[in-house]
Amino acid sequence: MNKQPTKDIQRYWYVYDDADAVAKEAAERILKHATKSIEDRGVFRLVLAGGRTPEATYRLLVGADTDWSCWEIYFGDERCLPLGDPDRNSVMAGNALLNSVEIPAANIYPIPSEKGAKIAAKEYKSIVKAAIPFDVVVLGIGEDGHTASLFPSHKHPVDQLVCPVYNSPKPPSDRVTMGIRALSDAREILILATGAGKQDAIEAWQDGEPLPIAKIGNPAPVNILMDRAAEPSLG
Ligand code: 6PG
Repeated sequence: MNKQPTKDIQRYWYVYDDADAVAKEAAERILKHATKSIEDRGVFRLVLAGGRTPEATYRLLVGADTDWSCWEIYFGDERCLPLGDPDRNSVMAGNALLNSVEIPAANIYPIPSEKGAKIAAKEYKSIVKAAIPFDVVVLGIGEDGHTASLFPSHKHPVDQLVCPVYNSPKPPSDRVTMGIRALSDAREILILATGAGKQDAIEAWQDGEPLPIAKIGNPAPVNILMDRAAEPSLG
């Protein structure tokens, strides 16, 4: 349970030359956790982000020397679209990583968002409850500062594990998202930000805006990996 006040969140900001360097660092961190988690517990529980940014990281993972049979894959959020829709986060992850590695299908937990946000959130909540704590949670950040489908314009109680989201400012309107509590219940949280379009969101976050993303963390450290283009300009 994420009971620590957000002020105690351990947050570290890293700046890399470009998006490829961010992807390389993220893949290395994920694989380091995978090795340790599999050694210690025989399982590696990874939460994948949607959107475009993490794709490069996922593609780098394809060639990894790891025991894929110990990997379990979860999704931080999903768009309410039909199965197989190219805009689904699970389809992007499948194309970039999951269809190219030997993770058992039974170990991949897509959010059943094709059933509608309410039913899917209810079903996914029991999956998340059984899975936490995760080993690594990967997240992106939107230009408005959202992460997963936790939008600044919406109310997101901190103790929610999974919730339906309606009227999302980023299409499609209906989504399902892990909540702050679930996304915080991990050994490491990696937030990837590349491109100048993310500068304002990162600056707002660093300036203390009460964004949902700012509530994520504890006990897990939050490591933000950004490229120079996404780094807020000084002054
Ligand atoms: C989604 C994602 C969303 C994404 C950010 C950043 O469903 O779109 O969950 O939170 O991570 O919007 O998207 P980009 O990586 O494409 O900039």
